[in-house]
This record gives sequence, C-alpha cells and structure tokens, in this order.
Amino acid sequence: MSRYDTQGRAEIESRIRKTVVPERGQIPMFTYTDPGVYELEVERIFGRNWLFLGHVSEIPRPGSFVTRTMGEESVIVGRGDDSIVRVFLNACRHRGMRLACEDFGEVNNWRCPYHGFTYGSKGNFLGTFMGAPFERVAYPEGLDRDALHLVEARCETYKGLIFATWAKSGPSLDEFLGNSKWYLDLVVGRAEMEVVGHPERWMVPTNWRLPAENFASDAYHTATAHSFLQRLGMVKGVDFGRDGYHVDAGGGHGLGVGVHFDGHSYFPEELADEYAVNLDDGQNQTLSRLKNLHGNIFPNFTFLIPNFIEVEGRRVSGAMLRVWQPVGANKCQVWSWHFVEKNAPEWWKKLGRRMYTQTFSSSGMFDQDDTENWEMQTRSSDAALYRNEEFVLNYGMGLNMPTLEKDEFPGPGDVYDGKFSESAARTYYKVWRDQILEGHK
Ligand code: FES
Ligand code: FE
Repeated sequence: MSRYDTQGRAEIESRIRKTVVPERGQIPMFTYTDPGVYELEVERIFGRNWLFLGHVSEIPRPGSFVTRTMGEESVIVGRGDDSIVRVFLNACRHRGMRLACEDFGEVNNWRCPYHGFTYGSKGNFLGTFMGAPFERVAYPEGLDRDALHLVEARCETYKGLIFATWAKSGPSLDEFLGNSKWYLDLVVGRAEMEVVGHPERWMVPTNWRLPAENFASDAYHTATAHSFLQRLGMVKGVDFGRDGYHVDAGGGHGLGVGVHFDGHSYFPEELADEYAVNLDDGQNQTLSRLKNLHGNIFPNFTFLIPNFIEVEGRRVSGAMLRVWQPVGANKCQVWSWHFVEKNAPEWWKKLGRRMYTQTFSSSGMFDQDDTENWEMQTRSSDAALYRNEEFVLNYGMGLNMPTLEKDEFPGPGDVYDGKFSESAARTYYKVWRDQILEGHK
C-alpha cells in the first residue's frame, strides 16, 4: 500500500519525466532523498531486478543458510537437503513471523518461533501432523499444505554469485548480466574464490544510489577525494584513476578498468595457470596489465579490485563485493565481502587481508573519504528538497566521446579510452528512469 495517494504518485512521476534527462547529462538532486521517489524504487526497481545476495561458499552444506534483504524484505538464502540453493521470503505463512532471526546458521527444518509451524529446507510445509503443533486438535480438518509453502523468489547463480528476483518472468540472470559477465569474471571467475569471513555491515547516512553510481562510473573523484594515496607514497601520482577504460556494459551496468604499463602482471605468478584455465585470451591479457577495476551491476551490486598498493614491500590487491542496501531514502546499509583465491599463496592471502582493512572496509581509508562525500551530498539533497528547487546536477562528462573499435579492447560493451567519462552513469539513470516510469503502465 502506498503512503502516497494516486495524485501524489502521478506528480512524482511527472516531475521525474520532466527533469531526469540523462541524455543531456541532467539529473535533479531531489531524486536522492524524496521519500516518494524511494517508495517507487522499492516497488519498481527492487521489486523486479535481479539482486545479489551472497556467494555459494557462504552456505557450503545442505541446511546452511544466511539471511539477506531484497528491497525492504528479509529473505532466507538456504541450501536445501538436495543441495539446491533457494531463496524464501523470511515470513511464516501463519502470521508472518520471521522464521530465521539469525544472520546465518544450519538447520534441518525451519520451525517458526511464534506458534511452531515447521517447514522443510525446500520451503515445504511439513507432512501431515508434522507441520503444526497439536495439529490433530487444532486443525481436525487438516491444513492445505501446498498453500502454506514458503514464498519463493526466482534464484540463479553466476560463477558462485547468488542472485534472486521477485519477477516471476523476464530475463534470465545470464541475460540480465549480459556484457558485464566478461568483467565480473576478472573479479570472481578468474580462479576458485572463497569468502574471507562473514560480510561486514555498517550504516552510512547516504542515499543508496550515490555509492552505486560512483562505482559504476566515477573514476574522476579519485585524484581529489583519494589523493592521500599519493601523499603517503602508496602510488606514484594522483592520476592513478585515469589510465584505462570506461565501460558502459548496457542494462545500467557500468565499470572502469584501470591499467598500468609496467609490462608484467601484478597478480601472483603462482596463480597464472589457474587464471589461464578460467579466463579467455582477452581476459587474461587484460588481467595481466590490470591495476584496478570497479563496477556496479544495476541497481546496487558493486564489484571491485582495488588499486594495487604496496604492503610490506609487495604489491597487493584483492576482490571485493558490495551491496548498497537501502534503509529509507537517506540511509544505506553497506554489505562488504572480501574474496580471495582459494589456492593462493599464503603471502597473497595475508597481505590481501591487510590491504582490505586499510582500503575498502569499515576501517578503510577509501571508505572514509567516499562516505563523507556521499553523506554531504545526501544532506544537500535534503536541503534542495526542502526548498523545493530544481537543483540539477551535471553528468555531462564524455557526452560526445567516441567508443573504441572492437579490435582496440577485447572486452564487450561501449568502451571508452580513458576512465574519465560519465557515460555509464547516464545509462544507469536512463534504465532507472525508464523502470520507474514503465512501472506506471
Ligand atoms: Fe509462525 Fe504462527 S506466525 S506459527
Ligand atoms: Fe572512492
């Protein structure tokens, strides 16, 4: 049920239609914190896109589960006793109590803490006289077991990444990811990967879209916001974010591929054979000169190979995944996973953990810089909203930039030479606007 009447919704849609013009690089600031816009996003963006929930290594055994969020709804991501990964709304069919109140665990059955309705690991209400306490007495005429099956989302995996959607039909995960798969492979498909510990979580007073679009499209801020890297001598110059490629992968997915010119790979030699087996020639070639990679899968799933830095005299980076989980229009819960190659040498694993805590994590220096910017932008948006002015932001960088020819870079999508462009952000907002407005039909 909307908190806004039909008239209120129509007004918000009309304002978006008039003022969100990514084709000209124009995005109005009110969209960041307007509660009516947020309500439409929950319904039309989070209610139908494929959303990233976790990695298969987090639920290794039959019965393992983690609890995650899709939009505003708690879900259980569980491995059934048949080893299949499924995603259920975390709500009992009796009165809607959460079945799993823990972050993770292992179960044979789901027993509701309220009245004791019990479900199997495949989401099925258990057999006659096993599903409900005192069932013979309380329900002498029996219960419709099929109707009591847990609400299940469509779930698919790609290279161990678990996604789910509430859309009953529509593109498969493979179609949805499209060109971005080629780049995701560099982060999580290059070798057998495993999660290091449990994902970290922390709250940031920002609208969720600001970090998402930053990772999709904003290499430009690194020279100013993260100039500490150069001042501390961790990189040679503040232009470390420029060299490489800006990629509009389509579907609202965007990324930047940073390259170096040192003529040898920064990744551990010990893993070269495994990379060669898992990646094609173009991907291997790109990995061998990679110094950073950042991207975002629409709407709020970020992947990252942070800029290589020196730790204990060795160059090191890692693999990270992020979800920018909205908690209202101006608050966001950050979920952060750190990954490492399972067969990596010990020094890469150990220094990789150091690199993670120093760079992108709740204690990370990059996160301190970025968070402050997103928080202040969100406050500015609130102020603009309060004044009811059309404060239009400039997303015009690279508007007339030509794309590279297919023989100039091996990866798919619209690829631009140099990472300073906002093309991917413009596509992100085209997809965002179209989904919000199409939902009206
Ligand atoms: Fe679950 Fe009643 S709410 S058994
Ligand atoms: Fe940043």
